[in-house]
Amino acid sequence: MTSRGRPSCVNINGRIVPPEAATVSIFDRGFLYGDSVYEVIRTYRGVPFELEAHLTRLEASAKLIGMRLPVPLAQIATEVHATHAASGHADSYIRIVVTRGAGEIGLDPSLAVDPLRIVIAQPLKAPDAAVYENGVTIALVSVRRNLRAAIDPAAKTGNYLNSVMAMGEAKERGAFEAIMLDHRDFVTEGASSNIFAVIGGVVLTPPLDAGILEGVTRATVMKVARKAGMSMLEVPLTEPALKQAHEVFITSSIREVVPIVKVDDTVIGDGKPGATTQRIRALFAEYVASYVASHRK
Ligand code: PDD
Repeated sequence: MTSRGRPSCVNINGRIVPPEAATVSIFDRGFLYGDSVYEVIRTYRGVPFELEAHLTRLEASAKLIGMRLPVPLAQIATEVHATHAASGHADSYIRIVVTRGAGEIGLDPSLAVDPLRIVIAQPLKAPDAAVYENGVTIALVSVRRNLRAAIDPAAKTGNYLNSVMAMGEAKERGAFEAIMLDHRDFVTEGASSNIFAVIGGVVLTPPLDAGILEGVTRATVMKVARKAGMSMLEVPLTEPALKQAHEVFITSSIREVVPIVKVDDTVIGDGKPGATTQRIRALFAEYVASYVASHRK
């Protein structure tokens, strides 16, 4: 199987297999229940960016759903490097998936045997340059973010219906990304991104206890912006505050830092990517360059 007509490279339980032979059991709980954890990593010139942070989050996600990873993180790292190298692409989209495994059908997690781990490397499909030059629109969708006490958004699990439903609504409205409120009307995050607002020169983002994924890009942006002397605060954000912000941007591994120029029908700032967002994009790019230089073998 190929993605978008271009070849992928797949590793199942440590063995690289042709994409067309990359099949798993229909009894796997990842397929039946979304009972799995995953990560998405972007490589730059052959280097998986912040691989350590992604693996740490994979382990944290597994812990949050009471799943034991079948092999040490170091082995998963080796498999990521091997799969990426076999793919022959310098800039890839890498997905790691670990499922609780197959077994007798039933919800009881202890029925699971044969945990499954998969690494997929496919050529990177980054957003068009126009996305960064002109900015994009986000939709505040009616779908609410999962409650932390139900399915904690801090765990990156294969149970992504919440985000799938949100994205479906955003696409119907012609938006680039969906942003979800929580049950109390606070802004949480995107279907697959974190969100920031710039108000009066201060960069604001919802705190982790807002019920969000601790984005690796979010953490990097916070680190580089603070190091550059910018004010960065984790505070609850409301819909009116977001719509009145001078600038808004979203972050994710594949899309990096994307300027938002419209929230639904509300134009943000002067409708163009703002100076603070552009500065953060530049700081992020500098950090990526130094990370890649120090991790290239
Ligand atoms: N998604 N919030 C959610 C719900 C996400 O799914 C993601 C990432 C993020 C941003 O996290 P990071 O900066 O670590 O990529 C926030 C990935 C890209 C995906 O599922 O495709």
